Amino acid sequence: MDAVKVGLLGLGTVGCGTVTVLARNGEEITRRAGRGIRIVQAAARDLDKPRICETTGIELTTDPFAVVNNPDIDIVVELIGGDGLARDLVMQAIDQGKHVVTANKALIAKHGNAIFAAAQEKGVMVAFEAAVAGGIPIIKAIREGLAGNRIEWLAGIINGTGNFILTEMRDKGRDFADVLKEAQELGYAEADPTFDVEGIDAAHKLTILASIAFGIPLQFEATYTEGISNITREDVAYAEELGYRIKHLGLTRRTDAGVELRVHPTLIPERRLIANVDGVMNAVLVMGDAVGPTLYYGAGAGAEPTASAVVADLVDVVRVLTSDPENRVPHLAFQADALSDLPILEMDQVETAYYLRMLAEDRPGVLAEVTRILGDAGISIEAIIQKEPRPGTDKVDIILLTHRVREASMNDAIAAIENLAAIHDKVVRIRMETLGAD
Ligand code: HSE
Repeated sequence: MDAVKVGLLGLGTVGCGTVTVLARNGEEITRRAGRGIRIVQAAARDLDKPRICETTGIELTTDPFAVVNNPDIDIVVELIGGDGLARDLVMQAIDQGKHVVTANKALIAKHGNAIFAAAQEKGVMVAFEAAVAGGIPIIKAIREGLAGNRIEWLAGIINGTGNFILTEMRDKGRDFADVLKEAQELGYAEADPTFDVEGIDAAHKLTILASIAFGIPLQFEATYTEGISNITREDVAYAEELGYRIKHLGLTRRTDAGVELRVHPTLIPERRLIANVDGVMNAVLVMGDAVGPTLYYGAGAGAEPTASAVVADLVDVVRVLTSDPENRVPHLAFQADALSDLPILEMDQVETAYYLRMLAEDRPGVLAEVTRILGDAGISIEAIIQKEPRPGTDKVDIILLTHRVREASMNDAIAAIENLAAIHDKVVRIRMETLGAD
C-alpha cells in the first residue's frame, strides 16, 4: 500500500523533530501503522533559515494554505502555534476532509469545541497528544487506558519553565527573576514568558485534561489562573521547613457542586512522588475510582519528546483511516452527544487548605489576635511557626498552615488579618493540597 502523505505546517523545533523522528524510525513506525508515513510538503515562514533537520525530498513552501489545500495530502500536522492563523489553517484542512494532528494547546483549549464539531461533521480526526505535557502520552492514558474509571481529580506539573524556576529557587536559594532570565536563555520559556510564569500555558493544558477526564466541554475562560512571579525564596524555604514543596500545579476536581479548574502555586507534601518532579520535567497525577492514583512523568517540551507524541498521533490516525467515524475514539474521550454540563466552580467556592505568611510586630497578643480571627471564621490551624525578628527590625514572619476551608471564608479572614494594626504588608497566601487518596 502507498505511504500516507502528510503535510507539515511549521519547521521549527517540533516540526524538525518530527521530520527527524519519522526518518530515523520510519521502518518501525511503518510496522506499527501498517503503512508508511511520508512528509511530502512543509510550510515554513523563511525557507532560507538554517534547519536542524534534513528536508531533502520534502517540497517546501512559504504558503501554509498551499499545504492544507494540497489534494495529495491526507493528514495535516499543525506545528506553528498560536490561535489565529493556526485556527484558520486547521479549519480549512478539516473543510478539505483532511485529518489533523496538532501540538497546539492554546488552539485546542480555546477553539477545540468548534474544531471538534467541524471534524465530527466531516468525519475526520483531530489528534492533539502533543498539546499536553509534550512527550508524556497523558491524553491516551486518560482517554483510553483509564476509560473504565470515574476520574475523581487530577493534578499536574504541566509547565516545564515554571517547574525549572521553582526547582532552582529551592535548590540554590535563587530569586525568581534571576532564574527566569536563565530559563529564557536556555530556550525553555514560551515566546512570551508570561504564558509560562503566569500559568496561561498550564491553564491551556489543564482545560484539555479536565475535558477528557470528566467529559465536559473545553472551558478555558473559566479556568482560575495564578502565576508564580510572587513566590519568594523565603516562602520556598519556609514550606520546606514544614515538609512541603511549592509547585505550580494545574488541578481539576469533580465535586457535587461542580468542577474545580485551577492553576496556582501549591504546597504539596514532600513525600509525594509528584513533589519530587524537578527541573523542566512534567508529571500528571490522576485519581481514578477503580485504579487509584497513577502518575505519568516525562519530558514536557523539546524537539524529539514532543515529536514522539506527534508521530504517535500520526500512527493512530493512519490505523483508523479506513474505520468509519462512529467507531473511533471520541475527540474528548466521551461521545460528543454525551458531554456533561457540570458547571465550573468560581474560585471562592473551592475548598482547600492554606499556607499563610504575615509580617507582624513582635509584641504580646499579636498571635492571639490572628488566631482569634481564624477561629471565629471556623478555620482550623494545622501548624504555626514564628521566626526570629528580621535583622534590624522588631518585625517577625509568622507562618501558618490551615485545614481545608472554603476560599470565600479564607478571603474574609485574610482581609480581617490585614486590617490589624500589628500586621504589615499583605498576607501571603499559597494554597495547599495533600494529593492523597482521600
Ligand atoms: N513553555 C512550555 C513549558 C513548553 O515550559 O512547558 C511546552 O508546552
